[in-house]
Amino acid sequence: MAVDVILGLQWGDEGKGKIVDYLAGNYDIVARFQGGPNAGHTLKFDGKKFVLHIIPSGVFREGIMNLIGNGVVIDPVILKKELEGLTVAGVDYKKCLLVAKKAHLILPTHRLLDKASEVAKGQQKIGSTLKGIGPTYMDKTGRNGLRVGDTFTPSFREKYEALRDKHLQLLKIYPEIEYDLESLEAQWFDSIKTLHELPAVNGEYYINKALDCGKKVLAEGAQGSMLDIDFGTYPYVTSSNTITAGVCTGLGIAPQKIGEVIGITKAYCTRVGGGPFPTELLNGMGEELRRVGQEFGATTGRPRRCGWIDLPALEYTIMLNGVTQLVITKIDVMNDFEEVKAATRYRYDGKEHAHLPYDLGSTKVEPIYETHNGWMTSLEHVNSFHDFPKPIKSYLKTLEMFLKVPITMVSVGPERQQLVLREVKVEA
Ligand code: GDP
Ligand code: IMO
Ligand code: MG
Repeated sequence: MAVDVILGLQWGDEGKGKIVDYLAGNYDIVARFQGGPNAGHTLKFDGKKFVLHIIPSGVFREGIMNLIGNGVVIDPVILKKELEGLTVAGVDYKKCLLVAKKAHLILPTHRLLDKASEVAKGQQKIGSTLKGIGPTYMDKTGRNGLRVGDTFTPSFREKYEALRDKHLQLLKIYPEIEYDLESLEAQWFDSIKTLHELPAVNGEYYINKALDCGKKVLAEGAQGSMLDIDFGTYPYVTSSNTITAGVCTGLGIAPQKIGEVIGITKAYCTRVGGGPFPTELLNGMGEELRRVGQEFGATTGRPRRCGWIDLPALEYTIMLNGVTQLVITKIDVMNDFEEVKAATRYRYDGKEHAHLPYDLGSTKVEPIYETHNGWMTSLEHVNSFHDFPKPIKSYLKTLEMFLKVPITMVSVGPERQQLVLREVKVEA
């Protein structure tokens, strides 16, 4: 069997958690392959709301296994809090959650370094979630990191202390920040005990064996492709490969094992943190999207920047990921808009372009928009594509024609069931 992938095509928060939760029932295993507690994936069902940071979004579906893959970075303190939340919700996590031994650990001092580095950058700060993501991946690639598997070895404490001491030296080059390391460490080591309640596995063997046995695997992305370390709006990105390629390294599977790639985009666009955002609306319309769409970070609570959908950027991320199906979320947020815009090209260097420039940050880009009629109606009673008001059908058709990928699902609200599935693929 193949590994299907769900990932975000914009700057994160596209609604990945909701879609993974919806589809998880069709799979045997749901696996996170990158990122860490910088992610905030919201699930809503039966009148309840959950925000997951490290734990895969299949965890509420009975009878399936969830794996925190080797490409993920884990803060045991945050994981412990999440696990406690699962217990309250009646989920027996010991039975449905595994962790890869090769996943790296976020130390308290990684979080401190993240913060100190951002303070040092001043106006140029990335807008990091301050969860220690960058410093932890730096130690991974720098070959200094601590992994889940290390916590079972007699030299764990020693390795921890060596890395911590290195971090304390490094902190000296940054502006001073306040911290109480003793209490942070006590909490961290206490959380390692909770981490040990989860079966630790060689994730790569586990996944490949499952595939050989005919099991269906869903890989859940975090962040979005425009935050990818290689192809995103560098340096305003996260520190992992958020694109499909990251599934191979983040779980240990070969490229030919990838099946469907389900790319998610909002019907508009948001971004949280710093960095370029060509279609950002710094006006009342942007505020309206934020208000109606409740666009506030699920991890940090920060207001998200809002703007129109950006088709050149989507075309780019569809190319990078090999997207085979598109999911449009939050279309209901624009129900009262008289018109809806979509950027179809950029103007820069005195010409029109379909491609993104080398650096969106330093190139002054002017999006060229196409305007669509709004639908000015509630979508509460829409159960099939056929029921969508005409302007939505036309908007979706335009997106499909432009992006050349079939739209298979449209999300019309935050609840699990507020999803309209496509029965027939529209001809291109
Ligand atoms: P993720 O990080 O990609 O999982 O997305 P987040 O959970 O950070 O942000 C998506 C937000 O939109 C959450 O508050 C969801 O409950 C909400 N949401 C998801 N799909 C829809 C939708 O179709 N309509 C509306 N109005 N809200 C949605
Ligand atoms: P989900 O999975 C939106 C952004 C941060 C910052 C940049 C770097 O919920 O879509 P980091 O903490 O990774 O060093 O921050 O990336 N960012 C996200 N934005 N959704 C996310 O995750 C994000 N994870 C990181 O705001 O701009
Ligand atoms: Mg999110």
